[in-house]
Amino acid sequence: MTVRIGMIGAGRMANTHADCLAQIAQARIVAVADVLPDRAQTLAARSGATGYTDYRTMLAREKLDAVYICTPTGEHAQPAIDTAEHGLPFFIEKPLTLTMRDAWRVARAVERANVMTCVCYHWRYTHAALKAQEILGDRPVALTAAEWWWTLPPIPWLRDKDLGGGQVVDQTTHLTDLCQLFAGEVTEVYAAYSHNAYRDAEFHNWDGYALAFKHASGAVGSLRCTYALFKEIAEFQVPRVELIAREMFLRITPTGLIVVTPQGRQEFANTGAHHFGANHAFISAVVTGDASYIRSSVPATLRSLALTLAANESAQTGKPINLAEFMRAAE
Ligand SMILES: NC(=O)c1ccc[n+]([C@@H]2O[C@H](COP(=O)([O-])OP(=O)(O)OC[C@H]3O[C@@H](n4cnc5c(N)ncnc54)[C@H](O)[C@@H]3O)[C@@H](O)[C@H]2O)c1
Repeated sequence: MTVRIGMIGAGRMANTHADCLAQIAQARIVAVADVLPDRAQTLAARSGATGYTDYRTMLAREKLDAVYICTPTGEHAQPAIDTAEHGLPFFIEKPLTLTMRDAWRVARAVERANVMTCVCYHWRYTHAALKAQEILGDRPVALTAAEWWWTLPPIPWLRDKDLGGGQVVDQTTHLTDLCQLFAGEVTEVYAAYSHNAYRDAEFHNWDGYALAFKHASGAVGSLRCTYALFKEIAEFQVPRVELIAREMFLRITPTGLIVVTPQGRQEFANTGAHHFGANHAFISAVVTGDASYIRSSVPATLRSLALTLAANESAQTGKPINLAEFMRAAE
């Protein structure tokens, strides 16, 4: 089977996924929709697809098997709902939405239409994450600790917290997602943010973030991240999730996994493009009809989004946020 794909949004991430899809024999991009005609045409030309400026026209005219939604985050919900109402499975960029209310709207549309979905939590599909899960097994985790030292986001709209959600919602959601994957769901989060390195006029966003959270399993977790540095810092301090269990330390980074125990140190390297695994899993699920390839469906990742939105709420109110109540209040 060839999976006929329609892309909604033809910017940076759409091109990243197109590179991955070009390596998957069963995948073919047949249509691309972007409000900017040049972007739609450029990506369409790469794969001999048809370009559109309105995704609704694309959904109405094209015979598709799946849709990719790679628009800015505030423009995710409606295309996702429209795609589900066309009965089509979709792959969607994280974060799912900027509000919990929109996230529930998407989740309900997905449930009604009973379509497969994959939210691009691509770290979940890496060799490092899969190997960490195998090695950790069912050992109780004592502590999850995550860090991402970073710089101003490269895409202008992402710099604005009202459009991108801030670093915790937009970027380090990958890390807290893994914390929940390994240590179970988070029940409560407390966050404090700074806006000290930049003036609001030049950067309308927080630049330092500190989170503390409790997992239902009894584990405790923390995240520290910043937008105040520079790209080269990644050579000194790689983004990471660390998991601490009894006499076992695991560190997951974009390049692989390190495991340290009293018996010694083991390393497992990631191979290939970081986003390839998520694309491959989604296409495999569509080809076979077997949703178990997908490790990050909309329902399975609602709590990942909720943790980050609740952290923003905590930072703004100064209060710890109970995640179950936070999610229920928006349902
Ligand atoms: N998974 C990851 O590693 C990762 C990394 C970066 C960004 N992202 C996420 O990917 C998404 C896209 O980010 P990006 O960096 O590609 O942004 P981008 O600005 O480069 O691309 C977005 C594109 O969507 C188009 N667009 C806007 N509204 C539209 C609409 N209603 N219909 C059709 N097209 C529309 C824009 O013209 C633009 O070309 C965001 O949600 C972002 O947070 C994910």
